[in-house]
Amino acid sequence: MDIVELRPDEHERLVEWLSRESWPFHVNARPSPEMVRAWLAAGMFTEPEARTFWVHAEEERAGLIRLHDLEDETPMFDLRLRAFFRGRGLGRQALRWLTRFVFTTMPGVERIEGTTRQDNVAMRRLFETCGFAKEAHYRRAWPAAGGERLDSIGYGILREDWLAGSVTPLVWDDRRP
Ligand SMILES: CC(C)(COP(=O)(O)OP(=O)(O)OC[C@H]1O[C@@H](n2cnc3c(N)ncnc32)[C@H](O)[C@@H]1OP(=O)(O)O)[C@@H](O)C(=O)NCCC(=O)NCCS
Repeated sequence: MDIVELRPDEHERLVEWLSRESWPFHVNARPSPEMVRAWLAAGMFTEPEARTFWVHAEEERAGLIRLHDLEDETPMFDLRLRAFFRGRGLGRQALRWLTRFVFTTMPGVERIEGTTRQDNVAMRRLFETCGFAKEAHYRRAWPAAGGERLDSIGYGILREDWLAGSVTPLVWDDRRP
């Protein structure tokens, strides 16, 4: 696996890449080319708000990492692999890479956050095995196909945990004496 930042002259390639694939766990499961162009024009993939990286595997653009909310203190991310490349361990390598990238190149960042849909088992497993702790459970917060609303689960990793290779457990019942 190789990770390479998106170049300005690759925006149309990104439009094609995102719009030709199906993303069943995203709010926009099948974004149109026009939609992706509008996202690009709004700065959703580029600095200062975001940075975007290709995940290369088998000499193909297998996946995409979009780090966003970079102007806030806590970056978030979107990680997606083309269907052909899912379920082979590439997601775990990519998440480990992006965590290291953020904590080694952004000294002011103390935590990274990610959210996923409750039924996205692969992504939740990925968070759990890459040092992220479950921090939030938002009921009926994720609009899904057909007007259904599913739960949204929030995960986070702290710089100190990443450095120590540990996961500090969250005290859920913090008002109990
Ligand atoms: C979510 C995603 C990034 C995970 O990456 P991946 O390379 O497919 O996952 P991995 O192969 O590294 O597997 C991670 C874990 O999930 C498990 N897993 C993978 N696919 C699974 C599936 N469809 N159902 C259940 N478990 C699954 C693996 O067995 C592994 O578990 P383990 O730690 O017990 O071995 C990838 O599947 C993807 O891009 N999906 C579509 C886009 C998406 O949903 N992105 C997340 C948006 S929040």
